[in-house]
Amino acid sequence: MVMDGLGNMNPPKNGDRPYFIKEINEQPNALAYTLAQFMGQNFQLKMNRPPLDDQTLKSIQKTYITACGTSYHAAMTARYLIEEFAQIPTVVEPASECGRHHSLVDETTLAVAVSQSGRSPDTLAALDLARRRGAHTLAVVNEADSPLTEAAMGTLLTLAGKVHSKASTKAFTSQSLVLALLGLRLAQSRNLLRKEWRQEIESFSRVPEMIREALMKKDLEPKVIEVAKFLNPYFQTFILARGHLLPMALEGALKLKEVAKIHAEGYPAGEFGHGPLAMAGPDTPIIMFSFSDEEEANSLSLAFELKARNAPLILITEDGPKKDQALASMADTCLPLPQVPSRLRPMVAVIPLQLLAFHLGQARGLDVDHPGGTLQPEIRGLGSEDTAKSQIGPQIKSQPAPQILAPGAPGSPVSVQAGSQSGPLDSGPDQAGNGGQAGGQGKAGARSGKKGNGGAPDHP
Ligand code: M6R
Repeated sequence: MVMDGLGNMNPPKNGDRPYFIKEINEQPNALAYTLAQFMGQNFQLKMNRPPLDDQTLKSIQKTYITACGTSYHAAMTARYLIEEFAQIPTVVEPASECGRHHSLVDETTLAVAVSQSGRSPDTLAALDLARRRGAHTLAVVNEADSPLTEAAMGTLLTLAGKVHSKASTKAFTSQSLVLALLGLRLAQSRNLLRKEWRQEIESFSRVPEMIREALMKKDLEPKVIEVAKFLNPYFQTFILARGHLLPMALEGALKLKEVAKIHAEGYPAGEFGHGPLAMAGPDTPIIMFSFSDEEEANSLSLAFELKARNAPLILITEDGPKKDQALASMADTCLPLPQVPSRLRPMVAVIPLQLLAFHLGQARGLDVDHPGGTLQPEIRGLGSEDTAKSQIGPQIKSQPAPQILAPGAPGSPVSVQAGSQSGPLDSGPDQAGNGGQAGGQGKAGARSGKKGNGGAPDHP
């Protein structure tokens, strides 16, 4: 594992490594920066700007979250946590479906639009519709200077830095983290989670470190490379998951399609036996998440069915003993992750699938940085270079490096290097922002003229 002076893993040498893998490896830093702007002293959450001020939040009865593509998968992760933490009914909808049916979005709704670029036309249109229905609107966005931030009443920035690869990775995990914190903020506004608060927030503050641990795990990448070689001759695969991990299966499948051009379908494991099982066989490898003993127990009978059909089985699981090793013994191979608290599993579990998309794409001789599967006009990520500087540069210059507590080692910091003029995540000449589909022209003219918080971070 090679590290650069900024703490990024596997930095590109002479520009020879694709941005896609570079950005996968930048995730710990991207998440640490993103997190730092919301973490105050003594586990305070700094997330009370409008529309997330207490008064507005008291009037909120439901949450509506919308996005496209990978950002939509991040949005899906939020539903579980908002409903669990804050007990607020939450609907997550692809932005392209918004407005196609009767919707319950109204003035009691917090409408959240999630986007890396802040320029996806459907996302802009969905936010605009929610605004016209009287909802309180919030953008979760990486491009501070974008039409989405202009259109929303407030903005939560992901500080993932410049995005060069069209396939989104570091923006995705950063969005998932911000949305998890949003769930905590909503819970706080309802006086919920008072006892569990410290534990929850401490747990989320460890996400960057957990992702770093997964990326540095000695046996993970070599095994992923083996699996990539194995999958190379196949045309299709399914990725099966349950509950909180389902969005990761969908996201992994999107990455495999986009970057490695293999037909991959993410599917709820419990639904697979209701028809799609007919597809399982020697020519269709199955990738399955299995972490807890409960998941193992639930997946065992399905694994028997898969093996009876001679379908190759690849398990994504975590190190450490399980009560029941039966599932692992049926797998053709296991991709091992470090043990992480269950809440953090989704954000860590996506890592092997991102790596798999990269290595399979490479094995197939594909241009992993420009897979060409995202609709993007000529103008992408307008102003992204300046924007990245205004997001990352001043952050680094004006604040101490975020300190993330390492697991089991209170007080032991994982520091993100400070002092770089342009920022550790800002390291290449390409200025294409990911997902900048619209060049600022939302199809519904989503510029409300209302200024958000201008993308300014919440901390000094
Ligand atoms: O910039 P956005 O997040 O709004 O883009 C949405 C999607 O086009 C984008 O996430 C796309 O799915 C990814 N490039 C796929 O990796």
